[in-house]
Amino acid sequence: MTRLPLMAGNWKMNLNHVEATGVVQKLAWTLADYRYDKKLCEAAVIVPFTDIRTVQNLVQGDRLPLVFGAQDVSLYDSGAYTGEVSAPMLAKLDCTYVVVGHSERREYHGETDEIINAKAKKVLENSMTPIICVGEKLDIRKEGTHVEYVLAQINGVLDGLSSEQVGAAVIAYEPVWAIGTGEVATPEDAQEVCGAIRTRVEELFGSDASQSVRIQYGGSVKASNVVDIMNQSDVDGALVGGASLDPEEFARIVTFYGR
Ligand code: PGA
Repeated sequence: MTRLPLMAGNWKMNLNHVEATGVVQKLAWTLADYRYDKKLCEAAVIVPFTDIRTVQNLVQGDRLPLVFGAQDVSLYDSGAYTGEVSAPMLAKLDCTYVVVGHSERREYHGETDEIINAKAKKVLENSMTPIICVGEKLDIRKEGTHVEYVLAQINGVLDGLSSEQVGAAVIAYEPVWAIGTGEVATPEDAQEVCGAIRTRVEELFGSDASQSVRIQYGGSVKASNVVDIMNQSDVDGALVGGASLDPEEFARIVTFYGR
């Protein structure tokens, strides 16, 4: 089974909708310069809610070889939840992906594995693909219990999903100590945990699910380190933060296969 690599650029709370237009256009031109082939790697931009409509118009209007998505979603479909954005709303905007459980949401918004699991279900019920984030903080890594810790998160965030749903999902392993710090886990560190996640998926959901689920690494991924990370057998792409704000850098990451 060959899994299509996925490079997802998580813009976080950066770039307003006017700036997004420039960045998406430049990304598309640069990918064309690099003879980007979407059959070899999928490229996604994961943008602030206020940018989605603009990005949708650009991607669909100009038939750009990109997909797009959101960084979070409400647990509810509609109602008195001031400030929330629902999965049906995101589906209506043709979002392909929705990130759930990013470490910044866990840290600043108290999101637990249970909440993340419920959000992943909402995304799947609305025919979109969740990018479900897991990862340990530095203290856990120092203790050496990071594999058990991440596998416990996996048990929680995937609870109650069907094998088909898990097989269609994306899991992002992001060691929190490597996010936005310039500190990259070694390719072997990434493989250790991504491989353990795949084995756990096989134990819980069977081998079809474990062979088709895509597992990304995230944390200070750049054009200069992406090739070594992608050479690991259980790493199927990257969730890219800072480097995705620079279209030239992100285009080089997306076309990693040519280098
Ligand atoms: P970074 O962020 O690439 O800036 O480390 C990754 C992420 O938080 O998804």
